[in-house]
Amino acid sequence: MYVESLKGRDLLSIADLSSKELYSILELSLKFKRMYYEGYRMVPILVNRVLALIFEKHSTRTRISLQVAMHQLGGTSLYLSSQELQLARGEPIKDTARVLERYVDGIAARVYKHESVVELAKYSRVPIVNALSDYEHPLQALADIMTIMELKGDIKNLKIAFLGDGSDNVLHSLLLAVAKLGGTIYIATPLGYDPNREIMALANDDAQKSGATIAVVRDPIEAVSNADVVYTDVWVSMGQEKEREKRIRDLGGYQVNKELVSYAKKDYIFMHCLPAHRGEEVTDEVIESSNSVVWIQAENRLHTSKAVLASIIK
Ligand code: CP
Ligand code: NVA
Repeated sequence: MYVESLKGRDLLSIADLSSKELYSILELSLKFKRMYYEGYRMVPILVNRVLALIFEKHSTRTRISLQVAMHQLGGTSLYLSSQELQLARGEPIKDTARVLERYVDGIAARVYKHESVVELAKYSRVPIVNALSDYEHPLQALADIMTIMELKGDIKNLKIAFLGDGSDNVLHSLLLAVAKLGGTIYIATPLGYDPNREIMALANDDAQKSGATIAVVRDPIEAVSNADVVYTDVWVSMGQEKEREKRIRDLGGYQVNKELVSYAKKDYIFMHCLPAHRGEEVTDEVIESSNSVVWIQAENRLHTSKAVLASIIK
């Protein structure tokens, strides 16, 4: 019940996974979900293992799904707000890493700067999971793709539209995953909000091998037209609060509302990593509609967390 090649490895980015490993982790997540529904919640393969969670930012889904996953795998977890660690008083990340690795078997970290998870991984011999940085959110992308596969089948035949901030962490990870799996993704975003260049370069490289189609467009209708999946995320991510007014102004034309989704396929699914800001990136009407699958997406965070932890923790 784990992906063998991932034992002991970090998960900082979707780019850390080969497409074969990505498929394997998704298949394992689906297996954990099936077992869960058959009544097998406890799969004791990480007995006596401890996962530390270092969180610099708030979290509902990521924190709880990782902690419950660890419990259901027979292990235990420690939630450590960075405010309560000596980190907050200036102890360097590299020192924290070299201490924690002596107590625990894995670390999940939610950070402001992506370099912080890179630094943790550099100085720790136990696997590090990126539980969201300003750059990526790989755990979210796994649950997103799992949800799409479950509800819509092979990603190769699907058009995914992402509306809003093209430099968003959730979109970066989703884009890398879609590029590896050969899907089609249209990103509708205003000038100045394009995906990070390195991410685009990695995605384009993978797209050449997988046959994926990636398009960054300015027109939301072009992105949503005939789409199977319509995805959005908040316009103001954690840590960007000071830019709030400008972002709302710049991204205002990219709201997912009833008019816009009328261009998607009739049976499109609406996705959002949550938490959502109704009235900003999405209207209440769309997120509460029968096309919305956001609760299934959130549910799948548990099963993908299990697949990741079972695979990487030794
Ligand atoms: N989607 C997601 O990562 O949610 P949390 O911020 O609640 O963990
Ligand atoms: N882009 C959002 C995702 C939250 C899960 C943020 O970083 O705040």
